[in-house]
Amino acid sequence: MDVAYNPFSLEGKTILVTGASSGIGKATAIECSRMGAKVVITGRNEERLNETFNSLEGDGHIQILADLSNEDDIQHLVNEIPVLNGCVNNAGYNIMSVIQFIKKDNLDHIMNVNLTAPIMLTHLLVKSKKIAKDSSIVFTSSISARGRNSVGNSMYSATKGGLSSFMKNAALELAAKRIRCNAVLPGMVETPLKEGKSNITEEQWEINRQLYPLKRFGKPEEIAYGIIYLLSDASAWVTGTELVIDGGMTR
Ligand SMILES: NC(=O)c1ccc[n+]([C@@H]2O[C@H](COP(=O)([O-])OP(=O)(O)OC[C@H]3O[C@@H](n4cnc5c(N)ncnc54)[C@H](OP(=O)(O)O)[C@@H]3O)[C@@H](O)[C@H]2O)c1
Repeated sequence: MDVAYNPFSLEGKTILVTGASSGIGKATAIECSRMGAKVVITGRNEERLNETFNSLEGDGHIQILADLSNEDDIQHLVNEIPVLNGCVNNAGYNIMSVIQFIKKDNLDHIMNVNLTAPIMLTHLLVKSKKIAKDSSIVFTSSISARGRNSVGNSMYSATKGGLSSFMKNAALELAAKRIRCNAVLPGMVETPLKEGKSNITEEQWEINRQLYPLKRFGKPEEIAYGIIYLLSDASAWVTGTELVIDGGMTR
């Protein structure tokens, strides 16, 4: 038996992870480094980004602060990074609002961060040849892109539906450059994003947890492992796919 055998290895790959200062992105960056990747991490919060950086295994990693709602920051990020073999478009957030109370400013901002930024980052990576042939781009979408919705979630769902659609087009278009594009679609995961839904009581969360066939929410690492599969050569024949990771919710 070859103990070093690992088709999911990220050895020799340089991978950018957005939203790496918290939750799923933090777990993804750390797990990627444990799988042998050199990781470029980005986020807005310097202290929390540093925390992630200090948790990475191995060396040669890079951290760059960027607000992805700002086009100049995206361009700066692309200028600063080395050529990538993988990119995880993971940064995102949620604003809960019933349709009656939607504000244009909020809509513009969530569209910018959750949808426009991953599209522009993909555009700039390709345009500036900062993404190599045989690379993999992963988008963190959500089961809300698959019609698993709740009241007050319409703006967020719209961004994730758009993201999944963009991913499928990008998979078709970038196949000519042998760049694969896929998405993970998590159900509810225990991260600070969930804490942002402050109008939901712990009792309501528990009722929600029990709706999941596996009777719990996900852990950030459980999404990271799916992302690693899509980044690795183990998924070399996978593009345009949505990988649902949701404890059985959308079966
Ligand atoms: N948690 C869930 O239940 C769940 C379910 C499905 C999908 N998702 C998706 O998973 C992704 C990660 O979410 P999470 O749960 O890990 O949330 P989180 O813990 O709140 O982390 C969100 C990350 O996105 C970054 N971010 C937010 N706005 C940004 C901006 N304007 N510019 C740059 N970075 C920004 C944050 O950076 P700073 O903190 O440094 O600003 C942070 O690193 C999101 O796309 C989310 O929609 C989450």
